[in-house]
Amino acid sequence: MSGLAPNTIGQPNRPVLSLQPVQALDLFAVHDIEKTAYSFPWSLTAFQDCIDSCYWVQKLCSHSLVEENIQGYVVAMLVLDEVHLLNVTVRPSSQGQGWGRFMLQQLQQWAHSQKAQAIWLEVRASNQKAIALYKAFGFIQKGRRKAYYPDAAGQREDALVMSLVLQEGGVCI
Ligand SMILES: CC(C)(COP(=O)(O)OP(=O)(O)OC[C@H]1O[C@@H](n2cnc3c(N)ncnc32)[C@H](O)[C@@H]1OP(=O)(O)O)[C@@H](O)C(=O)NCCC(=O)NCCS
Repeated sequence: MSGLAPNTIGQPNRPVLSLQPVQALDLFAVHDIEKTAYSFPWSLTAFQDCIDSCYWVQKLCSHSLVEENIQGYVVAMLVLDEVHLLNVTVRPSSQGQGWGRFMLQQLQQWAHSQKAQAIWLEVRASNQKAIALYKAFGFIQKGRRKAYYPDAAGQREDALVMSLVLQEGGVCI
């Protein structure tokens, strides 16, 4: 799968962003972000497995004149006519600048290109930031999986199941 064209999300002085396929060489950088962003991070092998399985595994790159930095990533898989969002993460020091929303917009475009009818995801019930992002994007809660995730207190935490239905033109309904 080829990367999407570089895409600005902001105003002058905002970096140019692009999504590009994660390569084996990127895995340590991606995993470093994963470890800083989650209490229960994916393993390096989990990312490698997603690449090996030909899932949509994209890095979010910010470009300046002198360098390119990985600021986040998104992992999704197509199952029949549904896309399942497995991971979307922005480097903690870069959060809150619209980059999570940018990746969801790119995900939606990709889902449309795959002729998917809907995007599904699971999110920790306590993850208010991510839930706010998904709701702002049009995702609707469709269910709840009890005690789905481990939590820091050694207990279990529910997952909210959310979906975004796509029209033929790729627009949310
Ligand atoms: C969730 C995550 C991907 C959002 O990315 P981001 O770049 O920080 O978010 P954005 O700047 O694009 O914000 C988009 C929307 O998210 C919500 N949001 C972002 N930060 C928020 C905060 N601190 N509190 C509440 N809502 C917030 C808002 O709805 C925001 O829209 P607004 O700016 O119009 O208010 C990012 O915070 C992250 O990587 N978190 C850790 C990993 C994670 O939890 N991933 C999701 C797993 S299901």
